[in-house]
Amino acid sequence: MPQGEDPSLLAQAERIARDFDILPDQVRSVTRHFVAQLKDGLANARPWQLPSYVQSIPTGAEKGEFLAVDLGGSNCRICLVNLKGDSTFEVAQSKHSVPPSLMVSSSHRPLFDFIAQRLHEFLEKRTDLADQLPYSLGFTFSFTCEQTSLASGRLIHWDKGWDIPDALGRDPCVMLQDAIDRQGVPIRVTVLANDSVGTLLTRSYMSGPKISTLAAMIFGTGTNAAYVEKLSNVRRLSTTAADTGIMVMNTEWGCLDDKMEVLPRTPFDDELDASSTDPGSQMLEKRVSGLYLGELLRLAIVQLHRLRVFTMELDKKSPVFRRDSIDSSFISKLATASAEGAIDLVEDVLSAKNTAPDDAQAIQLIASSIARRAARLAGASLAALIIQSGRLQTSHARSISLVHKVEEPRRMEISSSTSAQRFCQSLGLLWQRILKFVGMNPITRKPRGCISSQQAQMSRDNYTDQGTIDIGADGSLIEFYPTFETEMRAALRDVTEIGVAGEQRVRVHLTKDGSGVGAALMAQAASQMGKNG
Ligand code: GLC
Repeated sequence: MPQGEDPSLLAQAERIARDFDILPDQVRSVTRHFVAQLKDGLANARPWQLPSYVQSIPTGAEKGEFLAVDLGGSNCRICLVNLKGDSTFEVAQSKHSVPPSLMVSSSHRPLFDFIAQRLHEFLEKRTDLADQLPYSLGFTFSFTCEQTSLASGRLIHWDKGWDIPDALGRDPCVMLQDAIDRQGVPIRVTVLANDSVGTLLTRSYMSGPKISTLAAMIFGTGTNAAYVEKLSNVRRLSTTAADTGIMVMNTEWGCLDDKMEVLPRTPFDDELDASSTDPGSQMLEKRVSGLYLGELLRLAIVQLHRLRVFTMELDKKSPVFRRDSIDSSFISKLATASAEGAIDLVEDVLSAKNTAPDDAQAIQLIASSIARRAARLAGASLAALIIQSGRLQTSHARSISLVHKVEEPRRMEISSSTSAQRFCQSLGLLWQRILKFVGMNPITRKPRGCISSQQAQMSRDNYTDQGTIDIGADGSLIEFYPTFETEMRAALRDVTEIGVAGEQRVRVHLTKDGSGVGAALMAQAASQMGKNG
Protein backbone atom coordinates (compact mmCIF):
# COMPACT_ATOMS: atom_id res chain seq x y z
CA MET A 1 0.00 0.00 0.00
CA PRO A 2 1.53 3.41 -0.96
CA GLN A 3 2.61 5.50 2.03
CA GLY A 4 0.09 7.98 3.41
CA GLU A 5 -2.92 6.05 2.08
CA ASP A 6 -5.97 5.43 4.27
CA PRO A 7 -5.52 1.79 5.24
CA SER A 8 -9.20 1.09 6.00
CA LEU A 9 -11.02 -1.55 3.98
CA LEU A 10 -13.57 0.87 2.52
CA ALA A 11 -10.89 3.37 1.50
CA GLN A 12 -8.95 0.59 -0.24
CA ALA A 13 -12.10 -0.66 -1.96
CA GLU A 14 -12.91 2.86 -3.15
CA ARG A 15 -9.42 3.18 -4.60
CA ILE A 16 -9.85 -0.06 -6.56
CA ALA A 17 -13.35 0.98 -7.68
CA ARG A 18 -11.97 4.30 -8.96
CA ASP A 19 -9.46 2.40 -11.11
CA PHE A 20 -12.42 0.87 -12.92
CA ASP A 21 -14.03 4.26 -13.62
CA ILE A 22 -14.28 5.23 -17.26
CA LEU A 23 -14.87 8.92 -17.81
CA PRO A 24 -16.81 10.54 -20.69
CA ASP A 25 -13.59 11.51 -22.48
CA GLN A 26 -12.41 7.91 -22.43
CA VAL A 27 -15.78 6.72 -23.72
CA ARG A 28 -15.47 9.16 -26.62
CA SER A 29 -11.96 8.03 -27.51
CA VAL A 30 -13.03 4.36 -27.43
CA THR A 31 -15.93 5.17 -29.77
CA ARG A 32 -13.69 7.19 -32.10
CA HIS A 33 -11.12 4.39 -32.28
CA PHE A 34 -13.79 1.74 -32.83
CA VAL A 35 -15.39 3.68 -35.70
CA ALA A 36 -11.96 3.78 -37.38
CA GLN A 37 -11.49 0.03 -36.72
CA LEU A 38 -14.93 -0.78 -38.13
CA LYS A 39 -14.08 1.17 -41.30
CA ASP A 40 -10.71 -0.52 -41.55
CA GLY A 41 -12.35 -3.95 -41.24
CA LEU A 42 -14.83 -3.11 -44.00
CA ALA A 43 -12.02 -2.27 -46.40
CA ASN A 44 -9.38 -4.84 -45.43
CA ALA A 45 -9.35 -8.52 -44.49
CA ARG A 46 -9.19 -8.31 -40.69
CA PRO A 47 -10.43 -10.78 -38.07
CA TRP A 48 -13.26 -8.35 -37.34
CA GLN A 49 -16.06 -6.95 -39.53
CA LEU A 50 -16.70 -10.37 -41.03
CA PRO A 51 -19.36 -10.53 -43.77
CA SER A 52 -22.06 -13.05 -42.82
CA TYR A 53 -23.39 -13.44 -46.37
CA VAL A 54 -26.84 -12.71 -44.97
CA GLN A 55 -28.22 -10.19 -47.44
CA SER A 56 -31.88 -10.00 -46.58
CA ILE A 57 -33.61 -9.56 -43.29
CA PRO A 58 -36.60 -11.58 -42.04
CA THR A 59 -39.96 -9.84 -42.22
CA GLY A 60 -41.80 -12.02 -39.70
CA ALA A 61 -43.66 -13.92 -42.42
CA GLU A 62 -41.15 -16.80 -42.61
CA LYS A 63 -42.65 -20.24 -41.99
CA GLY A 64 -41.57 -23.79 -41.41
CA GLU A 65 -39.87 -26.16 -39.00
CA PHE A 66 -36.09 -26.19 -38.86
CA LEU A 67 -33.40 -27.76 -36.76
CA ALA A 68 -30.62 -25.70 -35.25
CA VAL A 69 -27.52 -26.44 -33.23
CA ASP A 70 -26.45 -23.53 -31.08
CA LEU A 71 -22.91 -23.91 -29.76
CA GLY A 72 -22.25 -21.05 -27.34
CA GLY A 73 -19.49 -20.38 -24.84
CA SER A 74 -20.64 -22.94 -22.26
CA ASN A 75 -23.65 -24.82 -23.62
CA CYS A 76 -24.82 -26.63 -26.68
CA ARG A 77 -28.51 -26.50 -27.51
CA ILE A 78 -30.35 -28.64 -30.00
CA CYS A 79 -33.42 -26.73 -31.13
CA LEU A 80 -36.41 -27.57 -33.26
CA VAL A 81 -37.77 -24.19 -34.26
CA ASN A 82 -41.28 -23.75 -35.61
CA LEU A 83 -41.50 -20.41 -37.42
CA LYS A 84 -45.17 -19.58 -37.54
CA GLY A 85 -45.07 -16.83 -40.12
CA ASP A 86 -46.61 -14.20 -37.84
CA SER A 87 -43.44 -13.03 -36.03
CA THR A 88 -43.89 -15.73 -33.42
CA PHE A 89 -42.16 -19.06 -33.03
CA GLU A 90 -42.03 -22.11 -30.82
CA VAL A 91 -38.85 -23.85 -29.82
CA ALA A 92 -38.46 -27.40 -28.51
CA GLN A 93 -34.94 -27.81 -27.26
CA SER A 94 -32.48 -29.87 -25.29
CA LYS A 95 -29.65 -28.03 -23.56
CA HIS A 96 -26.33 -29.60 -22.60
CA SER A 97 -23.28 -28.24 -20.79
CA VAL A 98 -20.20 -28.84 -22.89
CA PRO A 99 -17.70 -30.85 -20.80
CA PRO A 100 -14.57 -28.73 -20.16
CA SER A 101 -12.38 -31.56 -21.51
CA LEU A 102 -13.95 -30.99 -24.95
CA MET A 103 -13.39 -27.22 -24.85
CA VAL A 104 -9.64 -27.59 -24.45
CA SER A 105 -8.47 -30.59 -26.44
CA SER A 106 -5.89 -31.55 -29.03
CA SER A 107 -8.59 -32.84 -31.42
CA HIS A 108 -11.89 -31.38 -32.60
CA ARG A 109 -13.51 -34.78 -33.08
CA PRO A 110 -14.66 -35.38 -29.47
CA LEU A 111 -16.47 -32.01 -29.44
CA PHE A 112 -18.27 -32.54 -32.74
CA ASP A 113 -19.07 -36.18 -31.90
CA PHE A 114 -20.60 -34.94 -28.64
CA ILE A 115 -22.83 -32.50 -30.55
CA ALA A 116 -23.84 -35.13 -33.14
CA GLN A 117 -24.71 -37.62 -30.38
CA ARG A 118 -26.97 -35.06 -28.64
CA LEU A 119 -28.60 -34.38 -32.01
CA HIS A 120 -29.12 -38.11 -32.56
CA GLU A 121 -30.72 -38.49 -29.10
CA PHE A 122 -32.97 -35.51 -29.77
CA LEU A 123 -34.22 -36.98 -33.04
CA GLU A 124 -34.71 -40.44 -31.52
CA LYS A 125 -37.23 -38.93 -29.13
CA ARG A 126 -39.00 -37.09 -31.97
CA THR A 127 -40.33 -40.04 -33.96
CA ASP A 128 -42.92 -37.64 -35.45
CA LEU A 129 -40.15 -36.09 -37.52
CA ALA A 130 -39.06 -39.33 -39.19
CA ASP A 131 -41.00 -38.75 -42.42
CA GLN A 132 -39.57 -35.25 -42.82
CA LEU A 133 -35.96 -36.38 -43.01
CA PRO A 134 -33.42 -35.43 -44.31
CA TYR A 135 -33.64 -32.29 -42.28
CA SER A 136 -31.74 -29.12 -43.00
CA LEU A 137 -29.92 -27.71 -40.03
CA GLY A 138 -28.65 -24.25 -39.18
CA PHE A 139 -25.44 -24.19 -37.14
CA THR A 140 -24.83 -21.30 -34.77
CA PHE A 141 -21.15 -21.38 -33.96
CA SER A 142 -20.23 -18.59 -31.55
CA PHE A 143 -16.55 -18.21 -32.35
CA THR A 144 -14.64 -16.09 -34.85
CA CYS A 145 -15.14 -17.56 -38.33
CA GLU A 146 -14.32 -15.97 -41.64
CA GLN A 147 -17.32 -17.01 -43.70
CA THR A 148 -16.89 -17.80 -47.37
CA SER A 149 -20.63 -18.27 -48.02
CA LEU A 150 -23.85 -18.72 -46.03
CA ALA A 151 -22.90 -22.34 -45.48
CA SER A 152 -19.14 -22.35 -45.08
CA GLY A 153 -16.38 -20.67 -43.16
CA ARG A 154 -12.95 -20.98 -41.63
CA LEU A 155 -12.33 -20.86 -37.89
CA ILE A 156 -9.91 -18.01 -37.19
CA HIS A 157 -9.37 -18.37 -33.46
CA TRP A 158 -10.82 -19.73 -30.25
CA ASP A 159 -11.67 -17.55 -27.28
CA LYS A 160 -13.81 -17.67 -24.10
CA GLY A 161 -11.41 -20.23 -22.63
CA TRP A 162 -11.71 -22.72 -25.53
CA ASP A 163 -8.63 -24.10 -27.25
CA ILE A 164 -8.76 -26.88 -29.85
CA PRO A 165 -5.78 -26.14 -32.09
CA ASP A 166 -6.49 -28.70 -34.81
CA ALA A 167 -9.84 -27.04 -35.61
CA LEU A 168 -8.19 -23.76 -36.61
CA GLY A 169 -8.55 -23.04 -40.32
CA ARG A 170 -11.25 -25.71 -40.71
CA ASP A 171 -14.89 -25.26 -41.67
CA PRO A 172 -17.23 -25.74 -38.66
CA CYS A 173 -20.02 -26.97 -40.98
CA VAL A 174 -17.76 -29.69 -42.39
CA MET A 175 -16.59 -30.74 -38.90
CA LEU A 176 -20.23 -31.00 -37.77
CA GLN A 177 -21.42 -32.72 -40.97
CA ASP A 178 -18.64 -35.34 -40.68
CA ALA A 179 -19.66 -36.08 -37.08
CA ILE A 180 -23.35 -36.28 -38.06
CA ASP A 181 -22.47 -38.68 -40.86
CA ARG A 182 -20.46 -40.81 -38.40
CA GLN A 183 -23.67 -41.07 -36.35
CA GLY A 184 -25.63 -41.99 -39.47
CA VAL A 185 -28.23 -39.27 -38.90
CA PRO A 186 -30.03 -37.97 -42.03
CA ILE A 187 -29.31 -34.27 -41.53
CA ARG A 188 -27.71 -31.72 -43.82
CA VAL A 189 -25.92 -28.73 -42.33
CA THR A 190 -27.09 -25.94 -44.63
CA VAL A 191 -26.08 -22.70 -42.94
CA LEU A 192 -23.51 -21.27 -40.57
CA ALA A 193 -24.32 -18.35 -38.27
CA ASN A 194 -22.58 -16.39 -35.59
CA ASP A 195 -24.78 -15.92 -32.48
CA SER A 196 -24.83 -12.13 -32.95
CA VAL A 197 -26.06 -12.55 -36.53
CA GLY A 198 -28.67 -15.11 -35.43
CA THR A 199 -29.91 -12.75 -32.72
CA LEU A 200 -30.21 -9.89 -35.22
CA LEU A 201 -32.30 -12.07 -37.54
CA THR A 202 -34.52 -13.24 -34.68
CA ARG A 203 -35.11 -9.71 -33.45
CA SER A 204 -35.96 -8.69 -37.00
CA TYR A 205 -38.40 -11.61 -37.37
CA MET A 206 -40.04 -10.67 -34.05
CA SER A 207 -40.21 -6.95 -34.77
CA GLY A 208 -42.07 -7.56 -38.02
CA PRO A 209 -42.08 -5.59 -41.24
CA LYS A 210 -42.68 -2.13 -39.79
CA ILE A 211 -39.44 -1.94 -37.86
CA SER A 212 -36.05 -2.22 -39.41
CA THR A 213 -33.74 -3.71 -36.81
CA LEU A 214 -30.25 -2.28 -37.02
CA ALA A 215 -28.18 -4.54 -34.82
CA ALA A 216 -27.96 -7.19 -32.13
CA MET A 217 -25.54 -7.43 -29.24
CA ILE A 218 -24.45 -10.38 -27.12
CA PHE A 219 -23.42 -9.92 -23.50
CA GLY A 220 -23.08 -13.49 -22.32
CA THR A 221 -19.98 -15.61 -21.80
CA GLY A 222 -18.48 -13.50 -24.59
CA THR A 223 -19.51 -10.26 -26.24
CA ASN A 224 -20.12 -9.40 -29.87
CA ALA A 225 -22.48 -7.50 -32.16
CA ALA A 226 -23.83 -7.75 -35.69
CA TYR A 227 -25.36 -4.94 -37.71
CA VAL A 228 -26.80 -4.10 -41.10
CA GLU A 229 -24.26 -2.43 -43.41
CA LYS A 230 -24.61 -1.14 -46.96
CA LEU A 231 -23.13 -3.70 -49.33
CA SER A 232 -21.29 -0.98 -51.24
CA ASN A 233 -19.28 -0.24 -48.07
CA VAL A 234 -18.04 -3.84 -47.72
CA ARG A 235 -15.00 -3.22 -49.87
CA ARG A 236 -13.12 -6.23 -48.52
CA LEU A 237 -15.47 -8.18 -50.85
CA SER A 238 -14.47 -5.96 -53.79
CA THR A 239 -17.88 -4.30 -53.89
CA THR A 240 -18.33 -0.92 -55.58
CA ALA A 241 -20.60 2.06 -55.11
CA ALA A 242 -22.90 0.47 -57.70
CA ASP A 243 -23.67 -2.49 -55.42
CA THR A 244 -27.06 -1.95 -53.89
CA GLY A 245 -28.42 -4.00 -51.02
CA ILE A 246 -27.17 -4.86 -47.60
CA MET A 247 -24.83 -7.21 -45.80
CA VAL A 248 -25.17 -8.26 -42.18
CA MET A 249 -21.72 -7.82 -40.64
CA ASN A 250 -20.41 -9.85 -37.74
CA THR A 251 -18.29 -7.16 -36.09
CA GLU A 252 -16.42 -9.46 -33.65
CA TRP A 253 -16.09 -6.31 -31.56
CA GLY A 254 -14.54 -8.26 -28.68
CA CYS A 255 -11.16 -7.86 -30.43
CA LEU A 256 -11.48 -4.27 -31.67
CA ASP A 257 -8.60 -2.84 -29.62
CA ASP A 258 -6.31 -5.80 -29.00
CA LYS A 259 -3.36 -3.41 -29.37
CA MET A 260 -4.66 -1.60 -26.28
CA GLU A 261 -4.54 1.86 -27.83
CA VAL A 262 -7.60 3.20 -26.03
CA LEU A 263 -9.05 0.58 -23.69
CA PRO A 264 -8.63 1.20 -19.97
CA ARG A 265 -6.43 -1.18 -18.01
CA THR A 266 -5.93 -2.02 -14.35
CA PRO A 267 -3.41 -4.46 -12.87
CA PHE A 268 -6.32 -6.91 -12.54
CA ASP A 269 -6.99 -6.78 -16.29
CA ASP A 270 -3.34 -7.52 -16.98
CA GLU A 271 -3.28 -10.43 -14.55
CA LEU A 272 -6.49 -11.88 -16.00
CA ASP A 273 -5.19 -11.58 -19.55
CA ALA A 274 -1.82 -13.14 -18.72
CA SER A 275 -3.44 -16.27 -17.29
CA SER A 276 -6.07 -16.64 -20.04
CA THR A 277 -5.98 -19.20 -22.87
CA ASP A 278 -5.48 -16.34 -25.38
CA PRO A 279 -3.26 -13.61 -23.90
CA GLY A 280 -3.29 -10.38 -25.89
CA SER A 281 -6.58 -11.23 -27.62
CA GLN A 282 -10.20 -10.21 -27.07
CA MET A 283 -9.23 -7.29 -24.84
CA LEU A 284 -12.65 -5.62 -25.02
CA GLU A 285 -14.36 -8.95 -24.35
CA LYS A 286 -12.13 -9.44 -21.29
CA ARG A 287 -13.50 -6.17 -19.87
CA VAL A 288 -17.13 -6.63 -20.84
CA SER A 289 -18.33 -10.22 -20.89
CA GLY A 290 -19.67 -12.61 -18.28
CA LEU A 291 -16.79 -15.07 -18.45
CA TYR A 292 -14.38 -12.47 -17.09
CA LEU A 293 -16.19 -10.06 -14.74
CA GLY A 294 -16.33 -12.56 -11.86
CA GLU A 295 -12.62 -13.23 -12.26
CA LEU A 296 -11.78 -9.50 -12.15
CA LEU A 297 -13.71 -9.26 -8.89
CA ARG A 298 -11.94 -12.32 -7.50
CA LEU A 299 -8.53 -10.79 -8.26
CA ALA A 300 -9.52 -7.57 -6.46
CA ILE A 301 -10.73 -9.56 -3.43
CA VAL A 302 -7.42 -11.47 -3.37
CA GLN A 303 -5.56 -8.16 -3.28
CA LEU A 304 -7.64 -6.85 -0.36
CA HIS A 305 -7.15 -10.16 1.43
CA ARG A 306 -3.37 -9.80 1.02
CA LEU A 307 -3.60 -6.33 2.57
CA ARG A 308 -5.33 -7.97 5.58
CA VAL A 309 -8.11 -5.40 5.63
CA PHE A 310 -11.08 -7.81 5.68
CA THR A 311 -12.76 -8.88 8.91
CA MET A 312 -14.21 -11.99 7.21
CA GLU A 313 -12.27 -15.22 7.34
CA LEU A 314 -11.51 -17.22 4.24
CA ASP A 315 -10.02 -20.67 4.48
CA LYS A 316 -7.66 -22.11 1.87
CA LYS A 317 -10.52 -23.91 0.11
CA SER A 318 -12.47 -20.70 -0.52
CA PRO A 319 -13.26 -20.05 -4.23
CA VAL A 320 -11.41 -16.74 -3.73
CA PHE A 321 -8.18 -18.70 -4.13
CA ARG A 322 -9.23 -20.67 -7.22
CA ARG A 323 -8.99 -19.16 -10.70
CA ASP A 324 -12.23 -18.57 -12.60
CA SER A 325 -14.30 -19.84 -9.68
CA ILE A 326 -16.53 -16.79 -9.28
CA ASP A 327 -19.40 -16.56 -11.70
CA SER A 328 -20.52 -13.15 -12.93
CA SER A 329 -24.03 -13.95 -11.61
CA PHE A 330 -22.49 -13.11 -8.18
CA ILE A 331 -21.98 -9.55 -9.46
CA SER A 332 -25.60 -9.32 -10.64
CA LYS A 333 -26.92 -10.68 -7.35
CA LEU A 334 -24.78 -8.27 -5.29
CA ALA A 335 -26.21 -5.37 -7.26
CA THR A 336 -29.70 -5.87 -5.88
CA ALA A 337 -28.81 -7.28 -2.46
CA SER A 338 -29.60 -5.39 0.75
CA ALA A 339 -26.77 -4.93 3.28
CA GLU A 340 -27.88 -8.09 5.06
CA GLY A 341 -28.46 -9.96 1.79
CA ALA A 342 -24.94 -9.06 0.61
CA ILE A 343 -23.43 -10.59 3.76
CA ASP A 344 -25.38 -13.82 3.12
CA LEU A 345 -24.25 -13.85 -0.51
CA VAL A 346 -20.58 -13.30 0.39
CA GLU A 347 -20.69 -16.08 2.98
CA ASP A 348 -22.43 -18.39 0.55
CA VAL A 349 -20.46 -17.75 -2.64
CA LEU A 350 -17.01 -17.11 -1.14
CA SER A 351 -17.38 -19.61 1.74
CA ALA A 352 -16.52 -16.74 4.11
CA LYS A 353 -17.08 -16.73 7.86
CA ASN A 354 -17.74 -13.90 10.32
CA THR A 355 -18.35 -11.43 7.49
CA ALA A 356 -18.67 -7.83 8.66
CA PRO A 357 -21.01 -5.31 6.96
CA ASP A 358 -17.94 -3.42 5.68
CA ASP A 359 -16.58 -6.57 3.99
CA ALA A 360 -19.78 -7.05 2.02
CA GLN A 361 -20.04 -3.33 1.26
CA ALA A 362 -16.47 -3.21 -0.06
CA ILE A 363 -17.11 -6.20 -2.33
CA GLN A 364 -20.39 -4.67 -3.55
CA LEU A 365 -18.60 -1.42 -4.34
CA ILE A 366 -15.92 -3.08 -6.45
CA ALA A 367 -18.41 -5.41 -8.15
CA SER A 368 -20.58 -2.49 -9.22
CA SER A 369 -17.57 -0.57 -10.56
CA ILE A 370 -16.50 -3.57 -12.67
CA ALA A 371 -20.03 -3.93 -14.07
CA ARG A 372 -20.36 -0.18 -14.68
CA ARG A 373 -17.13 -0.14 -16.67
CA ALA A 374 -18.37 -3.12 -18.71
CA ALA A 375 -21.69 -1.42 -19.46
CA ARG A 376 -20.04 1.90 -20.36
CA LEU A 377 -17.61 0.15 -22.70
CA ALA A 378 -20.60 -1.64 -24.24
CA GLY A 379 -22.21 1.80 -24.73
CA ALA A 380 -19.04 3.17 -26.36
CA SER A 381 -18.98 0.16 -28.71
CA LEU A 382 -22.67 0.46 -29.57
CA ALA A 383 -22.16 4.17 -30.29
CA ALA A 384 -19.41 3.29 -32.78
CA LEU A 385 -21.66 0.82 -34.53
CA ILE A 386 -24.57 3.26 -34.74
CA ILE A 387 -22.31 6.00 -36.12
CA GLN A 388 -20.78 3.67 -38.72
CA SER A 389 -24.20 2.39 -39.82
CA GLY A 390 -25.27 5.90 -40.85
CA ARG A 391 -28.63 5.23 -39.21
CA LEU A 392 -28.50 8.50 -37.26
CA GLN A 393 -28.81 10.38 -40.53
CA THR A 394 -31.21 7.95 -42.21
CA SER A 395 -34.95 8.40 -41.93
CA HIS A 396 -36.83 5.32 -40.84
CA ALA A 397 -38.71 5.01 -44.14
CA ARG A 398 -35.45 4.90 -46.05
CA SER A 399 -33.93 2.26 -43.81
CA ILE A 400 -36.97 0.04 -44.38
CA SER A 401 -36.60 0.25 -48.13
CA LEU A 402 -32.91 -0.55 -47.69
CA VAL A 403 -33.77 -3.99 -46.35
CA HIS A 404 -36.61 -4.59 -48.81
CA LYS A 405 -39.25 -5.29 -46.25
CA VAL A 406 -42.75 -6.03 -47.45
CA GLU A 407 -45.62 -4.47 -45.52
CA GLU A 408 -48.28 -7.03 -44.76
CA PRO A 409 -50.92 -7.56 -42.06
CA ARG A 410 -49.57 -9.42 -39.07
CA ARG A 411 -50.60 -10.46 -35.61
CA MET A 412 -49.10 -8.52 -32.71
CA GLU A 413 -46.66 -10.28 -30.51
CA ILE A 414 -45.89 -9.08 -27.03
CA SER A 415 -42.63 -7.31 -27.25
CA SER A 416 -40.54 -7.45 -24.09
CA SER A 417 -38.13 -4.56 -23.84
CA THR A 418 -35.36 -4.87 -21.32
CA SER A 419 -36.50 -1.70 -19.59
CA ALA A 420 -40.00 -3.11 -19.25
CA GLN A 421 -38.46 -6.23 -17.81
CA ARG A 422 -36.33 -4.18 -15.46
CA PHE A 423 -39.46 -2.53 -14.19
CA CYS A 424 -41.09 -5.91 -13.60
CA GLN A 425 -37.89 -7.17 -12.01
CA SER A 426 -37.81 -4.19 -9.63
CA LEU A 427 -41.45 -4.78 -8.72
CA GLY A 428 -40.60 -8.44 -8.14
CA LEU A 429 -37.65 -7.53 -5.94
CA LEU A 430 -39.74 -5.09 -3.96
CA TRP A 431 -42.38 -7.77 -3.49
CA GLN A 432 -39.76 -10.29 -2.40
CA ARG A 433 -38.41 -7.81 0.13
CA ILE A 434 -41.90 -7.16 1.49
CA LEU A 435 -42.48 -10.92 1.82
CA LYS A 436 -39.10 -11.33 3.50
CA PHE A 437 -39.90 -8.43 5.84
CA VAL A 438 -43.17 -10.01 6.94
CA GLY A 439 -41.38 -13.33 7.38
CA MET A 440 -42.72 -15.20 4.34
CA ASN A 441 -40.57 -17.07 1.84
CA PRO A 442 -40.63 -15.42 -1.57
CA ILE A 443 -41.13 -17.69 -4.55
CA THR A 444 -38.59 -16.69 -7.16
CA ARG A 445 -39.95 -16.59 -10.66
CA LYS A 446 -38.21 -15.69 -13.88
CA PRO A 447 -39.02 -12.12 -14.96
CA ARG A 448 -41.31 -12.02 -17.99
CA GLY A 449 -42.33 -9.30 -20.40
CA CYS A 450 -45.20 -7.54 -18.70
CA ILE A 451 -46.62 -5.13 -21.22
CA SER A 452 -49.94 -5.88 -22.84
CA SER A 453 -50.23 -6.41 -26.56
CA GLN A 454 -52.19 -3.15 -26.77
CA GLN A 455 -49.36 -1.26 -25.08
CA ALA A 456 -46.88 -3.00 -27.33
CA GLN A 457 -48.87 -1.91 -30.38
CA MET A 458 -48.85 1.69 -29.16
CA SER A 459 -45.16 1.73 -28.43
CA ARG A 460 -44.46 0.07 -31.77
CA ASP A 461 -46.33 2.82 -33.63
CA ASN A 462 -44.45 5.45 -31.66
CA TYR A 463 -41.15 3.83 -32.49
CA THR A 464 -41.93 3.89 -36.18
CA ASP A 465 -42.83 7.56 -36.07
CA GLN A 466 -39.71 8.56 -34.20
CA GLY A 467 -37.14 6.78 -36.34
CA THR A 468 -36.30 4.14 -33.81
CA ILE A 469 -32.91 2.53 -33.82
CA ASP A 470 -34.02 -0.99 -32.99
CA ILE A 471 -31.46 -3.29 -31.35
CA GLY A 472 -31.76 -6.89 -30.16
CA ALA A 473 -29.73 -8.05 -27.19
CA ASP A 474 -29.09 -11.32 -25.44
CA GLY A 475 -26.91 -12.66 -22.65
CA SER A 476 -27.07 -12.98 -18.90
CA LEU A 477 -25.37 -9.65 -18.19
CA ILE A 478 -27.94 -7.54 -20.00
CA GLU A 479 -30.75 -9.78 -18.75
CA PHE A 480 -29.82 -9.90 -15.10
CA TYR A 481 -27.52 -6.99 -14.22
CA PRO A 482 -30.13 -4.44 -13.14
CA THR A 483 -28.46 -1.26 -14.40
CA PHE A 484 -26.50 -2.59 -17.37
CA GLU A 485 -28.74 -0.93 -19.94
CA THR A 486 -28.99 2.30 -17.93
CA GLU A 487 -25.20 2.61 -17.68
CA MET A 488 -24.78 1.68 -21.32
CA ARG A 489 -27.22 4.43 -22.28
CA ALA A 490 -25.37 6.98 -20.15
CA ALA A 491 -22.23 6.21 -22.16
CA LEU A 492 -24.19 6.56 -25.42
CA ARG A 493 -25.20 10.07 -24.31
CA ASP A 494 -21.54 10.89 -23.57
CA VAL A 495 -20.70 10.41 -27.25
CA THR A 496 -21.16 13.76 -28.98
CA GLU A 497 -22.56 12.38 -32.25
CA ILE A 498 -25.22 10.39 -30.37
CA GLY A 499 -26.10 12.73 -27.50
CA VAL A 500 -29.45 12.71 -25.74
CA ALA A 501 -31.44 12.91 -28.99
CA GLY A 502 -29.72 9.89 -30.53
CA GLU A 503 -29.84 7.87 -27.33
CA GLN A 504 -33.59 8.37 -27.10
CA ARG A 505 -34.05 6.78 -30.52
CA VAL A 506 -32.34 3.59 -29.38
CA ARG A 507 -34.63 0.76 -28.25
CA VAL A 508 -32.97 -2.32 -26.85
CA HIS A 509 -35.07 -5.50 -26.88
CA LEU A 510 -34.12 -8.59 -25.01
CA THR A 511 -34.10 -11.33 -27.63
CA LYS A 512 -33.66 -14.42 -25.53
CA ASP A 513 -32.10 -17.44 -27.18
CA GLY A 514 -32.19 -15.56 -30.46
CA SER A 515 -29.07 -17.28 -31.72
CA GLY A 516 -30.74 -20.68 -32.31
CA VAL A 517 -33.89 -19.22 -33.85
CA GLY A 518 -31.69 -17.07 -36.10
CA ALA A 519 -29.96 -20.19 -37.44
CA ALA A 520 -33.40 -21.65 -38.19
CA LEU A 521 -34.32 -18.44 -40.04
CA MET A 522 -31.18 -18.80 -42.10
CA ALA A 523 -31.97 -22.46 -42.82
CA GLN A 524 -35.42 -21.31 -43.94
CA ALA A 525 -33.86 -18.73 -46.28
CA ALA A 526 -31.47 -21.38 -47.64
CA SER A 527 -34.35 -23.80 -48.27
CA GLN A 528 -36.26 -21.07 -50.16
CA MET A 529 -33.17 -20.37 -52.25
CA GLY A 530 -32.96 -24.12 -52.99
CA LYS A 531 -36.62 -24.21 -54.06
CA ASN A 532 -36.28 -21.13 -56.21
CA GLY A 533 -33.52 -22.52 -58.20
C1 GLC B 1 -16.73 -14.40 -28.78
C2 GLC B 1 -16.71 -14.98 -30.20
C3 GLC B 1 -17.84 -14.39 -31.02
C4 GLC B 1 -19.16 -14.56 -30.30
C5 GLC B 1 -19.07 -13.93 -28.92
C6 GLC B 1 -20.37 -14.05 -28.13
O1 GLC B 1 -16.41 -13.07 -28.85
O2 GLC B 1 -15.49 -14.71 -30.83
O3 GLC B 1 -17.89 -15.01 -32.29
O4 GLC B 1 -20.18 -13.98 -31.05
O5 GLC B 1 -18.04 -14.54 -28.19
O6 GLC B 1 -20.75 -15.38 -27.95
